[in-house]
Amino acid sequence: MERMSGKDSNQITRDYFDSILLEMRHIDGTKPDTTLKLFGEDFAMPIATAALSHLNDTCEQGMKKMAEGAALAGALCFSGMGERQELADMCGTGAKVIKIIKPHADNATVFEKIRQAEEDGAFGVGMDIDHAFNGRGEYDTVCGLPMKPKSSEELKQFISATKLPFVIKGVLSVTDAKKALDIGAAGIIVSHHHGIMDYAVPPLMILPRIVEAVGGRIPILVDCCMESGMDVFKALALGADAVCVGRAIMEPLKREGAAGVRDTLLKMNGELKGVMARTGFAEVSAIDNSVIWKTGV
Ligand SMILES: Cc1cc2nc3c(=O)[nH]c(=O)nc-3n(C[C@H](O)[C@H](O)[C@H](O)COP(=O)(O)O)c2cc1C
Repeated sequence: MERMSGKDSNQITRDYFDSILLEMRHIDGTKPDTTLKLFGEDFAMPIATAALSHLNDTCEQGMKKMAEGAALAGALCFSGMGERQELADMCGTGAKVIKIIKPHADNATVFEKIRQAEEDGAFGVGMDIDHAFNGRGEYDTVCGLPMKPKSSEELKQFISATKLPFVIKGVLSVTDAKKALDIGAAGIIVSHHHGIMDYAVPPLMILPRIVEAVGGRIPILVDCCMESGMDVFKALALGADAVCVGRAIMEPLKREGAAGVRDTLLKMNGELKGVMARTGFAEVSAIDNSVIWKTGV
């Protein structure tokens, strides 16, 4: 990751999470239920595995094992860049996989990857729009492949090219959220791509404004620095429909493969249930920001 001088967005994001405090509500409490529907499908938890890539360097068949772990936990699974066979293997586990395609300079490559994802049984597709430029304002190159920013019109064409839900990842402004909505995205992921730019606003700080702009018309997912069910709860309380977890599953994946991913997701979901129980929310969709108390950051 290239860094300009200045403060790391991951640290700023962590500090923001930790500045959010919660009240408790115990009277009339009920056991919480974390099931939800996303893109028309039922999931056991509002926690998805993030669009990771190159996990085969982390452990043998790492991408497939991530998907296996997600399927075992009843969680949605995202996939980042990678070979076609990796995605086919992931979908073969029975996991619901949304393939996030890079903003390849050549749109023919994007259309081809959408077609392959459909053929290989992906549950959805999308694009990480935040990987178009490098830190010097030039078009980015990822693993030797040239990238380019996409216009609303180009994104619209990608969306029209598939019947699968198309998710736009890397939204970190109301401006992009409104554009994503206007061009027909099925959902967005609010993210700074684990600190692709320094001083990026924490996803949870900007989330309420994006939620207001989107007005419940499409699901909003959030990632970056989710480490616990408490973090997940805070994202849901500020208006996210679900979250993605990336780096927190990598060490368990390395150590224990699919079981490590499953257990991490189940542990975080258990922690989420613990917070829901103590804040008086029986269902994920009921969680709101009325429990939040904010300290200065
Ligand atoms: C090893 C690794 C590979 C990643 N590859 C991709 C990718 O190919 N496409 C993508 O959209 N995001 C990719 N990401 C970013 C994640 O999807 C996510 O946005 C980011 O890591 C923040 O979540 P986290 O803090 O839970 O890790 C990658 C992250 C990591 C750590």
